[in-house]
Amino acid sequence: MDRYLIKGGHLIDPANGIDGKRDILISDGKVIKVLEKINESDSIVNDVKVIDAVGKVIMPGFVDLHVHLREPGFEYKETIMTGAMAAARGGVTTICPMPNTKPVIDSPAMVKDLLDRAKGAPVNILPIGAITFGQEGVDITDIAGMKEAGAVAISEDGKSVMNSWLFLQALHDAAEVGMPVFSHCEDENLVDGGVMNYGEKSEELGLPGITNAVEDVIVARDIILAKEAGCKLHLCHCSTADSATLVEMAHKQGLSVTAEVCPHHFTMSDDEITEDNGRFKMNPPLRSKKDVDALKNALKNNIIEVISTDHAPHSSEEKAQSMLKAPFGIVGLETSFALGYTVLVKGGYLTLSQLVEKMSVNPAKVINIDKGSLLEGKIADLVIADIEKSYVIDSSKFVSKGKNTPFNGKEVYGRIEKTFVNGKIVYDYLTDSE
Ligand code: DOR
Ligand code: ZN
Ligand code: ZN
Repeated sequence: MDRYLIKGGHLIDPANGIDGKRDILISDGKVIKVLEKINESDSIVNDVKVIDAVGKVIMPGFVDLHVHLREPGFEYKETIMTGAMAAARGGVTTICPMPNTKPVIDSPAMVKDLLDRAKGAPVNILPIGAITFGQEGVDITDIAGMKEAGAVAISEDGKSVMNSWLFLQALHDAAEVGMPVFSHCEDENLVDGGVMNYGEKSEELGLPGITNAVEDVIVARDIILAKEAGCKLHLCHCSTADSATLVEMAHKQGLSVTAEVCPHHFTMSDDEITEDNGRFKMNPPLRSKKDVDALKNALKNNIIEVISTDHAPHSSEEKAQSMLKAPFGIVGLETSFALGYTVLVKGGYLTLSQLVEKMSVNPAKVINIDKGSLLEGKIADLVIADIEKSYVIDSSKFVSKGKNTPFNGKEVYGRIEKTFVNGKIVYDYLTDSE
């Protein structure tokens, strides 16, 4: 049995109001004791491995509501195992894979199959089921059955259910069983072949642009339909200033609407795109500086409560192409905490405690799971990080099969040193890094 005494670290546990020096005793997969000082000679401590966390921060493990694991069907891009290992390396202890695999996760049997495949993975994997069969936008799936089988949300991610009547029926079905709906907001008729944000940069590179309206009209529609259905709505990868404004309006009306932003959308704007290269291509695209600033302020003002990655691995060959040809998507699991810490905490938008709320506490609430807290008795999913020394992101060291990131070579703070899931070490920088 693994028993650990983590000593001398600074615990950030916002769910329990803790931001200070604490020693933590872990045994049997659980948090046993959290005290300002626990001595090895204390009677509750026996047969432990001591972990020196002096100068380090300890946080509840991160919960990423939006990842793509590509299994079944696209194992050359990522498998459940490689995606889960990437999560562990990023301090992410729970991940929710989107259903756009081949075949699509669109039935209770497919949800069970995914959970079977996920057995033995180093992190917790909680699937998301599709809204329509095959994500074809025609027939609504068995939402109650998928929930029963273990799905924590439904989503058509990769696209929107464009038929508003059909989508409303799905929202009613979801409301009936208390299933949150995760919306990828993109009007497929307005996209019009766009591959990057519409603006000066798209003109300069001579590439077709994606306007903000592509996202904003569906954000507005989905909020209005969720209000009518009385359903819990979570807006994926918000990238525009007006998305944030619409979420604020929904909150003012007391609606059950939450929103996420991805690290790339608060870190980089389209004017930092240096060339026509697939590594800068994702959906929604990198937006204008004005949008980036609005998103950072929406995080600061708690209009946007969740940070998720939209980890979207693709092969190097696929991503080496022009933006006209490369698939949409960049990886994110191994860089999310460092980007959040560097851009938002060091940038003065959030405290570290608020960042942990957005990466752990709040996402756990969206899907109603008992995570994001290190109270005594809770499952020991936690992470130890070094926020003092900077390092340079090196995508060749990623354990994800996907190396597609625009952040290779970027200097950041916030290296994950150890990740624990169920009280076991699933990633250790000291032994797993080289
Ligand atoms: O960039 C993206 N990649 N956005 C999506 O909505 C889908 C995802 C993917 O599956 O690759
Ligand atoms: Zn999406
Ligand atoms: Zn996605």
